[in-house]
Order: sequence, then C-alpha cells, then structure tokens
Amino acid sequence: MPSLRPLVRLPRSAWWPVAAHLLWLGSESVASEPRQHDLLKYDWTHVAGVYPSERGLRIEGLGLGLIPPQDDAGSPVTPTPPINLRGPVVQVHGDILFSSAMQLPRGHRASLTFYGDLPLNQDEWRQEGHAVTLHIAENAIIAELQQGIGEPTRQARKLDLERNVSVSLARQRGRLSITVDGEQVMSFDDPGILDPGPVYLGVDTVAGEYFIIESLSVESLDKEGKVTVTSHEMVRAEPTATSLRRLAENHHPHVRIGTAVSTIPLLSDSEYARTLATHFNMVTPENAMKFQAIHPRPAHYAFADADAIVDFAELNEMAVHGHALAWGEALPRWVTDPEREAQPTRDILIEHIETVVGRYRGRVASWDVINEPFEPFAGELRTDSPWYRAMGDTYITVALEAAHRADPDARLYINDFACEERNEKSDALYRLARSLLAEGVPLHGIGFQLHEDMRDDYRPVNAQAFQENVQRFIDLGLEVRISEMDVNLHDDDSPERLRAQADYYRSMLEVPLTTPAFTAFSMWGFSDRYSSLQGWWDADDLGNGLIFDSEHAPKPAFHALQNALAE
Ligand code: XIL
Repeated sequence: MPSLRPLVRLPRSAWWPVAAHLLWLGSESVASEPRQHDLLKYDWTHVAGVYPSERGLRIEGLGLGLIPPQDDAGSPVTPTPPINLRGPVVQVHGDILFSSAMQLPRGHRASLTFYGDLPLNQDEWRQEGHAVTLHIAENAIIAELQQGIGEPTRQARKLDLERNVSVSLARQRGRLSITVDGEQVMSFDDPGILDPGPVYLGVDTVAGEYFIIESLSVESLDKEGKVTVTSHEMVRAEPTATSLRRLAENHHPHVRIGTAVSTIPLLSDSEYARTLATHFNMVTPENAMKFQAIHPRPAHYAFADADAIVDFAELNEMAVHGHALAWGEALPRWVTDPEREAQPTRDILIEHIETVVGRYRGRVASWDVINEPFEPFAGELRTDSPWYRAMGDTYITVALEAAHRADPDARLYINDFACEERNEKSDALYRLARSLLAEGVPLHGIGFQLHEDMRDDYRPVNAQAFQENVQRFIDLGLEVRISEMDVNLHDDDSPERLRAQADYYRSMLEVPLTTPAFTAFSMWGFSDRYSSLQGWWDADDLGNGLIFDSEHAPKPAFHALQNALAE
C-alpha cells in the first residue's frame, strides 16, 4: 500500500494533485476514470454561512447552536454546525482519501466534518451521529471523533501553520490518518465512522471568523475500491388516491393534513421524504424557523434549513405554516443577554419578523406569530421572555403588525398548548383574541397544539369538549387549526395501546372534518424514528406518539385517519 507521505516536496498549493497521482503509480498505470472527485463543483449554495466564489468557498462562522432549556447563562450551548445536505454525497466503498487546501487568515480557525451518520437535531437537544471533525488553527489541529450519543473523543497536535494549509483525512486498513502539509500528524483506529455508505460534509468556523476552502476532493485508496459522488436531489412524490392528502383534498378540502418536519431527515432519508410528500399537503418547520436556528447572530441569518423545507413543499405542492416568530424559547444568547445594549428589544423583534416573513412572502401561507404566550397551566401571560420584559403585553400587537406588514396575505396565528378545553388558560386566550380583534390587530387564527399522553392516570383532551371550546373562537370570526398533535405512548406499544391511540387520533380529526372554520389538522411529526418524543439520551426510546413507526410503516393510527378521511 502506498504511504500517505508525499514522495516529493512541492509548493503546498501544487503538491496534492501530484502526490495523489504518484500514490496511484504503484497500483495502477493509467486510470480510465478520474480518480479524484472535485467536491467543490457540487452545490454549496445551500449551506448556512457558506459563500462560493471563484477562489473557492468562503466559510463564515455563524455560531449556530442550541441553548439549553431553562437556560442559565452558564450552561454550554450545543453547537449545530452547518452540513451540506443539498450538495455532494460521497458513497464510500473501501479505503478513501479526502484532501483539501485552505486559506486560514491569522487567528482564524476552520473545521471540516465528515459525517458517516448524521445527527438528529431538536431545538433543546441533539442526538449525535458518527463523524470525524478536524478543527484547524494556526498552532494546532484537533481531531474529534463522535460516535453517537455521548462525548466525542479528541486528539490534538501542536503545529505551526502558515496561511495556506493542506489537510487530508485518509481511512486505510481500518485506520484514520490525518496529514497536514504533507506530513502525517495523527493516526488512530477508525471506529467505523467511514464505513461503507454515504458520507456528508460539514464546514464551520467560530462565530465572527472565516476561512476559505480552495479545493476539496475525494478519491479511493483501494485498487478495487470505488468512490462515487452523487448530487443530492430532492424527492418528489406522487400522492396515491388513498393517501391522506388526496383523501382530504377530495373529501374535505377545507382541512389541510399537516406535519412538523425536520430538515436533516427530509434531505437525507428518502423514505421519510417520500412518505411526507405522499400523505401531507402542509408542513411546519419543526425547528428550522425558530429564532436561534434562523437568526443566530445580530444581522446574520441562517436560512438554509428553512429554505430547504419551503423548496421541498413547493416541489410537492404543499402549503407551509411558519413557526415560530415571537416566542420565549429557542432564543440565542445575543437576544437573551440582559446586558445587551446595542439594539433595543423592540427593534430586534420587528427586524426579525420583517426579515423572516419578508423572505418567505407569498411562499409561507400562515405563521405562528405568537407562540405559547401563556404560562404553562394558568391564565397569565408569560413574563419571562425578553419580548414581554421590554414591551409588556404590547409585544403581541407589535409582532402581529410587523408580520402583517411583511406579508399582508399571510394568515397570522397565536399558538398554544393546554387551551383545547375550557379552562383558565383557554379563557385567557379567548379574552386576548377578542381584545386584539376589537383593536383591529391583524390576528386571523388560533392553533391548538394537542400534545397528548396515553397513560392510565391521565385523561387526554376529549373531542367533544374541544369542539365546544373552539366554537367560541370561531364565533369571533377566527379560523382555527390543530397544530401539533402527538399522542405519547411512553414506549408501551402493545396492540391495545396502539388501538387506543388510533381511536383517539380519529376522534380528534373528526372535529376539523365537521367544522368548516378549521384550516388544518397538523401533527408534530409523522415518523417515530425522528420524533421529538424520543429521549435525547437514547435514540431507541421512541415515545411512539406518531402515526408511522420507527421503520416509517403505518400504524393503526394512520389507518384510522385514512378511514375517517375516506368517509
Ligand atoms: C419542540 C420540538 O419538536 C423539539 O425538537 C424541540 O427540542 C423543542 O420544541 N410547542 C411548540 C414547539 O410550539 O415548537 C415544540 O417543539 C413543542 C411544543
């Protein structure tokens, strides 16, 4: 096997192609197919913070990450670095070499990630996949091995790098080795990260820093081995006559069948994407449009994930419901920082809403402008958000008016949980809606979340009680939607439980079907494989709350909805 050390010393920018060529002299005389695949010639325009140019890719750090729930400023943020999901997908079969040349401005850092298995992002936690990340700084390189849930392992090597640096990662005979400027600096066993199958690429740097990738390529190191690179293509599916969406379109056209959608599975799991496009005619980005995901730094937006969902929806003739503009959660630190002075909170909220709604004007039909404004189980407004702290309850009007200015045709909603039945909280929501309408504030609808549980000691919301409560909102002239239904079985998926879940789903769907003011019946995801009810600590702890199982196979609840729609 050829060694990974270059055989001759050449100027850094020139030596890699030559070295790669020399590597092959020993094993094969003339290659009939190009051995090296240029990964920069694929699409890099759909990656947050990445700007392709003549010189290569400019990578700007956006500091994307997840703020922990019940945040106190001391707890660490979980990084969610951008992944190129709409560009090259490298299919690995055998030994492989990735090579890159980059420019690193003084004091700036770079990272490259090779994902054998993608993570699953929620917005409070993340299940890590399998990946190798190379963090490169002028004085060190750190290799980080992520092997599923749990802390990654790291190895570091001190270096003294110049502005131009070439870095490669090889997997050969079960070992990963890293070469910097032609010298092998680290090597360790591959715990299976670059096993046969697709590998996705990620690029990132520290917020406020940048670097340039001048070249990035991949090649096989096996005589018989083969590397292929394909370009991601969005799935387009043809709904069948008995799909949920077609049944609704044909029998109950006032109700859209919706679901929350996660970007990573949408772009990497074609079965997930096909099921989605077959059965649903409305999507809600589960996390991609939340503040911390779409607006991670002042005046810096990360639209890529949300764009992908909107593009997918258009390709498959689905409506998009945007989520969530003014909310007290999923806020980046630059917004919640009590010391922040630069921009008044009111201006931040207005600029955020105008920018996000404006970008999707005409493409996102409706928005959760106000999300979860009330205390969890009480009739008082939540006071613990920066919006309330700065503006009191007027933030609600400010937000709705900003959204309306940015897209006068979009339908604007307040969305909350525990308001399905008549209670203190739904009474307060009713009074709020009534007074906003009386003041002429642009409010068009109410979303009832319907996150439910099947437990012996718990009585889920009753369909008739829901219907009776909703009527008073309809009488105000509002439209209504079920916005986030899931029915957590807490991992007990016995046939009886699945049956009860199915009956319950059906009983709730019947409310919109028989009530013209309902615009949508939307669930909070559709496949248990990626459900937000999973435990972050254990990918197999499913929650089992959705209508397709973790293999994307329909559950009794799916058939119950199908039957109800067919009637
Ligand atoms: C949830 C997401 O599904 C999770 O991925 C995330 O970790 C937390 O938020 N009400 C809402 C949604 O309005 O935004 C929440 O979504 C579920 C409750």
